[in-house]
Amino acid sequence: MVRHVTIFDTTLRDGEQAPGNTMTPEEKLRLARQLDALGVDVLEAGFPAASEGDARSVREIALELRRPVIAALARCHERDIDLAGEAIREAARGRLHVFLSTSDLHLEHKLRMTRDEALELARRSIRQARRYTEDVEFSAEDASRTDLDFLCQVAEMAIAEGATTVNLPDTVGYALPEEYGRMFEEVRARVAGADRVVWSAHCHDDLGLAVANSLAAIAAGATQVECTVNGIGERAGNAALEEIVMAGKVRPQLARFETSIHTQEIYRTSQLLAYLTGSFPQPNKAIVGRNAFAHEAGIHQHGVLQHGLTYEIIRPESVGIPRSTLVLGKHSGRHALERRYQELGYDLTEEKLTQLYRDFTALADRKREVLDEDLLALLHESFHDAPEEHLLTHLRVICGSVNAEAEVRMTGPWSGERSAQARGDGPIAAAFAAISEILERPVEVINLSLRSVTPGRDSVGQVFLQCRIGGKSLSGQGASTDIVEASARALVHALNKERHAERLEATAYNSTQHWGV
Ligand code: KIV
Ligand code: ZN
Repeated sequence: MVRHVTIFDTTLRDGEQAPGNTMTPEEKLRLARQLDALGVDVLEAGFPAASEGDARSVREIALELRRPVIAALARCHERDIDLAGEAIREAARGRLHVFLSTSDLHLEHKLRMTRDEALELARRSIRQARRYTEDVEFSAEDASRTDLDFLCQVAEMAIAEGATTVNLPDTVGYALPEEYGRMFEEVRARVAGADRVVWSAHCHDDLGLAVANSLAAIAAGATQVECTVNGIGERAGNAALEEIVMAGKVRPQLARFETSIHTQEIYRTSQLLAYLTGSFPQPNKAIVGRNAFAHEAGIHQHGVLQHGLTYEIIRPESVGIPRSTLVLGKHSGRHALERRYQELGYDLTEEKLTQLYRDFTALADRKREVLDEDLLALLHESFHDAPEEHLLTHLRVICGSVNAEAEVRMTGPWSGERSAQARGDGPIAAAFAAISEILERPVEVINLSLRSVTPGRDSVGQVFLQCRIGGKSLSGQGASTDIVEASARALVHALNKERHAERLEATAYNSTQHWGV
C-alpha cells in the first residue's frame, strides 16, 4: 500500500538555528513563499520565544500563506506556549509544536527533573497548547536515547491529552536505521490510541544517517517526516527534504510512499536558500549539488547521450534543473532574456525585467557567454531586502607588491556624492576602509567567502560577507566579474540592511535580533 507522507519543513526553524544561516524577517518570508510553491504540507516558521523577530516572522508567514499548516515551536514553558499560540492566531491552519526532553541523560543533566516531573510538565503544556489550537504536536526530544517504557508512557499521555502528532526525534543523530525503525514499531504497537495520531520522524545527520533513518521510520509506520531544504541544520544538519522526497519518487515499489512535493521546484528552492544564507550545498550533494548531474567520465557521457537512464536515475528536469540549450550573450535582446527566465521558472514583472536587462547587458559586456547560473545570480542579487539608500558609484583600486589603495565614490541619504581614498593590506581591505570612512561606520569582518558562479576565467564572482556594524550581525552579498567590486557591493548591501534595521527599530521594533547572520 502506498501511503501519503506529510512533509514537515523546518528549514526556517531547525535549519535557521544553525550558525551562519540566520535570515532577516523579509528573507524568511521570501523563502516561506517558495516553500509554499514547493508544496510542503507543514511549514515550521520559527520559535517565537527566541526573539521578537522570530515571533513577527511566524505571524507574517501565518497571515500570508493560507495553504500549508503553519507551525510554531515552544518549550514546555507557559510563556513560550503563549507566544507561539499568539503567533499562529491568524493562521488559516496553525499548529503548536511543544517539546520536552525525555531521555534520562537530558532529564538529569539538562532539565534536572525526574521522569514524573517531566511527564506532568508535558501534560500541563499540551493542555495549555490545546487552548490555542486543536492541532498540537508533541516532541519527545532525544527520543532515540530514551528508555522505551518511559517513551511509551509519555507518548500515551500526549495522545490522551489531545496531541494530534507525536514526534520521536533522533535529536543527536545517534540512531542506526534498523534501531530507529524498531523504536517506531514498538511504540506504535504498545501505546493506547496509537492509531489516532500521526507519528513523526525528525532526524539529525551526525552519522550521515538522517535520510536513511527517516526512511526507516516511514517503513515502520511514521507518516510525517521533519526535514530541511539542502539538509541545513544544527551541527551536521537535518534530514534533507529533497533526498527523502526523491527516494520515494525514484523507488516507489520499495519505498511505498508519496508526498505532495512539486519536485520541479526543488532546485529553485535549494538555490534561493543558498543565496539567502550564503551557504551552498557541497558540489557532490545528492539532488541539488553542482555535480549531482555532471558526467565527467567519457564512458558515462556516452551512455547518458544514448539513453538518459544508463547512468542517471533522476532526470534533472524533474527536480527543476533545466538542461541549458540557449546561451545568452551581448547581442541577446530583452525578449530572449525574458524567455530564458521563464524557462528557468521565473515570470518577471516589467519592472524587474527592465532592471535585470540593465544588469544583464552590463554583465554581457564583460563576459562572453551568460549562462543560467549567471542569470540566477543576477536575479538573486536584484532582491535587496533593504532599500538601496547607499549606492556605490565608483571604485578604483591599485594593488600589487605595495600597500593597496582604493578610491570610492558613493551616493546616499546625504545630498550629493561623497568620496574617500584609503589604504589597506589588500584591495578588499582598502575598499572596505574607504567605504567605512565615507559612511563613518566601523565594520568588523567576520567572514568573507567567494564563489565562482560558473566555470571559466570570465566567471562572475559571488561574495558572501558576514560582519558586525554598530553592534549588529549582518550579512551582505554582491556579484561581479571583479571580486573586489563584488566584495564592495556585499559590504554596501550589509550597510543598507543596517540602515533598514535602524529604521525598523525607530518604529519600536525589537533590536536584539540578527540581521542576516
Ligand atoms: O532535534 C530535535 O529534537 C528538535 C525538536 C525541537 C523537535 O529539533
Ligand atoms: Zn532538530
